Amino acid sequence: MEATTGNRILVTGALGQIGTELVEALRARFGIDAVVASDVRDMPDHPVVIGGHYRHLSVIDADAFDAVIVEEGIGLVYHLAALLSVSAEKFPELAERVNVGGLITVLEAARKHSLRVYTPSSIAVFGPDSPNHAPQVTPLNPTTVYGRTKVTGERLARNYWNQYGIDVRGIRYPGLISYKAPAGGGTTDYAVDIFHEALANGHYDCFVRADTRLPMMYMDDAIRATISLMDAPAESLGESRVGYNIAGISFTAAELADAVAARVPDFTCDFKPDVRQEYADSWPDSIDDELARQDWGWRAEYDLDALCDAMIAGLQLSSI
Ligand SMILES: NC(=O)c1ccc[n+]([C@@H]2O[C@H](COP(=O)([O-])OP(=O)(O)OC[C@H]3O[C@@H](n4cnc5c(N)ncnc54)[C@H](O)[C@@H]3O)[C@@H](O)[C@H]2O)c1
Repeated sequence: MEATTGNRILVTGALGQIGTELVEALRARFGIDAVVASDVRDMPDHPVVIGGHYRHLSVIDADAFDAVIVEEGIGLVYHLAALLSVSAEKFPELAERVNVGGLITVLEAARKHSLRVYTPSSIAVFGPDSPNHAPQVTPLNPTTVYGRTKVTGERLARNYWNQYGIDVRGIRYPGLISYKAPAGGGTTDYAVDIFHEALANGHYDCFVRADTRLPMMYMDDAIRATISLMDAPAESLGESRVGYNIAGISFTAAELADAVAARVPDFTCDFKPDVRQEYADSWPDSIDDELARQDWGWRAEYDLDALCDAMIAGLQLSSI
């Protein structure tokens, strides 16, 4: 299929937790001019905006999206714009419009302009009936609004691949832990917030129970996974191309608090579960990523100790 526009890369939702680091990685690899960052927010001081080309763009405005694709000569879209789990539960209609409607905008533009597309899924596609060690292929019956939009997203992406031959790829990210941008309203945000609070106040009130175990990953691993999935030869990818399971580290909230306490003297943590406990309880403890390993050579590098060291060093450095 011939590309009808160009070879530049568009990142949607670029001012978010993942976009902040993905844009930096893409600019470093392909050159500043090759990457167009976009988001619905206006944040003139954001490093992504300062560091290169930026367009204000809502993914639910299909005409504006189409115009940007043509004007900027885009050939590949990393589509990160979405509402995460906590925001989606609060604003379910908006979540449908952004997470499902926005993806349709991107996929339709891909059909028209022969774009390649990366669109992330999430461990939130799994529901309470999934095995605790979640397999790649299993019935997907999420109980959250967010999870349902992600299941629909995988189905849409697969349809555009099967029916129109659009090269769409995606990963079911675990909870992502990073220090360069704030976490964006997800259930796994406690695993980010705990580091900020430990260093700022020496204490954290954690919003899930101590024994809550969830699949997590350090952001560097997630960015590496994202770029290597897009680098993989199309013929190496199977039916799971729109939502590969990838595993990083699984730990309980108590294990995380202990690891932080081992690095931050006098740190204390209380566990005060709120409504987010329900979302966490509906998700698996860990992820089977055998297929991603086989198909495109995926392997995580960060364990809990390496993650904690990197988070604390990163936060301390950025506060200087
Ligand atoms: N961060 C995680 O732990 C995690 C885990 C699993 C999956 N994901 C998925 O990865 C993707 C990116 O997540 P993130 O953590 O960077 O989220 P985030 O909330 O930090 O960022 C999302 C960005 O999308 C933007 N946005 C919202 N509505 C928009 C619209 N209509 N048009 C354009 N932009 C819009 C927001 O302004 C925000 O900057 C999402 O699809 C999310 O579901 C993230």
